[in-house]
Amino acid sequence: MDGHLSGGLELCFPFLYALILLFYLIFYGFLTALFTLTMWVMLQTVDPNIPKYQDRLSVPGMMIRPKTDALEITYNVSNTEVWESYVKMLNNFLGAYNNSKQVAANEFCRPGQYNEQPDNGVLNIPKRACQFNRTMLGDCSGLNDTSYGYRDGRPCVLVKMNRVINFYAGANKTMNISCFPKKEEDAQKLGEMAMFPANGNIDLMYFPYYGKKVQVSNMAWTHNIECKINAANIGHPPTSRDKFSRPRAFQRSASTKD
Ligand SMILES: *[C@@H]1O[C@H](CO)[C@@H](O)[C@H](O)[C@H]1NC(C)=O
Ligand SMILES: *[C@@H]1O[C@H](CO)[C@@H](O)[C@H](O)[C@H]1NC(C)=O
Ligand SMILES: *[C@@H]1O[C@H](CO)[C@@H](O)[C@H](O)[C@H]1NC(C)=O
Ligand SMILES: *[C@@H]1O[C@H](CO)[C@@H](O)[C@H](O)[C@H]1NC(C)=O
Ligand SMILES: *[C@@H]1O[C@H](CO)[C@@H](O)[C@H](O)[C@H]1NC(C)=O
Ligand SMILES: *[C@@H]1O[C@H](CO)[C@@H](O)[C@H](O)[C@H]1NC(C)=O
Repeated sequence: MDGHLSGGLELCFPFLYALILLFYLIFYGFLTALFTLTMWVMLQTVDPNIPKYQDRLSVPGMMIRPKTDALEITYNVSNTEVWESYVKMLNNFLGAYNNSKQVAANEFCRPGQYNEQPDNGVLNIPKRACQFNRTMLGDCSGLNDTSYGYRDGRPCVLVKMNRVINFYAGANKTMNISCFPKKEEDAQKLGEMAMFPANGNIDLMYFPYYGKKVQVSNMAWTHNIECKINAANIGHPPTSRDKFSRPRAFQRSASTKD
């Protein structure tokens, strides 16, 4: 009799455990399914080709590389640590512009006209950006002079237009970035200034900018000081109070060995 009873119980416990296990399996399975469904529905509402958070500016400002807090490039040639950090930043930034990378990722575009990729009824994606080859930066490409001129006290500074989605910069007319020393005496100290690409020209083909899936770059290099964008539809100074909407000045001071 006793033997029978305990035998019955032994059969019962595994069954109970199995039931509990089954319950949790279904319970968690349900939770997982619910989470996945919610996630999927949410992702359907997100367009991967348009950034969720866009630059509030309607008119682009300028930025410089190497990027410094004060937007100033100041260094002492004999203090190698400082300018080597600038060189490192430029190397990192320009890696993406290696000719091989540009050819692989971006399109060869016809210069002098906007690179329009309209969605005529059907979504025209992915949007393609135009090639900006690192070699276009000439002496400032860092390919021949690996210190970008910093070693010689003639630093290259990259001037870059901020990206603004669907902005037709220049209103069909050629644009350029021009830079001038702020003071007359600076002009003597600085000596000659060079721009790459020539004349600081920014080709229309780099506009408009469509969004995060496209890599567009517009840049010009200079050997120095206060720069502005000359484009038909970018006024001076912009009325926006936004921090980066105003063309920024940057300075250089490099001690010479005299
Ligand atoms: C770009 O080219 C330079 C010089 O040839 C090379 O040192 C660097 O590793 C390259 N960067 C990338 C990201 O390919
Ligand atoms: C970029 O460089 C590659 C190879 O060096 C060349 O085939 C391509 O045409 C260049 N693109 C532009 C826009 O100059
Ligand atoms: C680097 O120097 C070589 C030889 O002087 C020249 O042919 C080439 O155009 C230079 N490269 C750049 C990017 O300036
Ligand atoms: C630029 O010019 C072309 C040809 O004249 C014209 O079709 C186009 O609408 C113009 N684009 C802008 C943004 O003014
Ligand atoms: C730069 O643009 C301005 C205004 O569009 C123009 O007056 C000037 O001639 C241009 N400079 C060069 C070097 O192309
Ligand atoms: C640059 O650094 C050297 C060595 O640290 C120092 O002797 C010189 O005074 C510095 N020059 C300037 C302009 O600060």
